[in-house]
Amino acid sequence: MDIKGKIVLVTGANGGIGGALVGALLDKGVAKVYAAARSADAVTELAHSGDPRVVAVRLDVTDSSSVAGVAELCRDVDMVINNAGVNRCVGFMVSDAIEQARVEMEVNYFGTLAMCRAFAPILASRGGGAIVNVCSIIGLVNLPVNGTYCASKAAGHSLLQGLRAELAPRGIRVIGVYPGPVDTKMTAGQEMPKTTPEQVAAAILAGVEKGDEYIFPDPMSQHVHAMLEKDSRQVEKEFGTMV
Ligand SMILES: NC(=O)c1ccc[n+]([C@@H]2O[C@H](COP(=O)([O-])OP(=O)(O)OC[C@H]3O[C@@H](n4cnc5c(N)ncnc54)[C@H](OP(=O)(O)O)[C@@H]3O)[C@@H](O)[C@H]2O)c1
Repeated sequence: MDIKGKIVLVTGANGGIGGALVGALLDKGVAKVYAAARSADAVTELAHSGDPRVVAVRLDVTDSSSVAGVAELCRDVDMVINNAGVNRCVGFMVSDAIEQARVEMEVNYFGTLAMCRAFAPILASRGGGAIVNVCSIIGLVNLPVNGTYCASKAAGHSLLQGLRAELAPRGIRVIGVYPGPVDTKMTAGQEMPKTTPEQVAAAILAGVEKGDEYIFPDPMSQHVHAMLEKDSRQVEKEFGTMV
């Protein structure tokens, strides 16, 4: 897909990767970007980005009326990037794990599912287009310190696989993105090598333009993916030491 001239919706557009995606899309020459954020302040800030192609919209992916309202407003999109996500950074045995897991599932799985269901008919009516879901490399193998988050991203990975098959006859490409650690608010205070959100955004758009279905946008995700292909049980064991 040639991104130039297209109309794209990005969720979580005020976040690290979301903000970088909006910038990279503008650099690629899109006609319009719907930059979606859930707080009024973030929407106001995005609305003052200075580029007339940015249309800021308010969206909470866990709120069905908010999702329906945005789908009503953005009927001209060619590509939806489901980037909004939360990570409560907890293991399965912490005292409030079930509450935290529900929050992560609501945003990362049910929120993404709601967006895909709302926008698939719009994309289909325009001849196809693409849905890009930002999953995570730790949706493919559990990292116990982020155990509940990984489970929500694993659900997101399964969602991608099912949707890809269901939406292919309607001409919609479903693309999965599996980043490793990225330097954003989500990983603030965690000491580890991280990729910049700008590098991740550039790799996502390059993958979309190349026709990739699976995008591993940084060296860490590419390395872990290669190891998973070789010996997934060994990767599980190594990640299992990080409790
Ligand atoms: N950072 C990493 O290492 C990493 C690695 C792999 C995958 N990812 C994934 O990349 C995506 C972007 O994360 P990020 O690193 O850029 O983190 P971030 O800076 O914390 O951004 C997350 C964005 O999601 C938004 N969001 C959260 N809940 C929402 C909801 N209910 N409705 C709408 N928007 C909501 C946030 O809005 P508020 O500002 O209002 O909270 C924020 O804009 C996420 O899906 C994340 O799981 C991140």
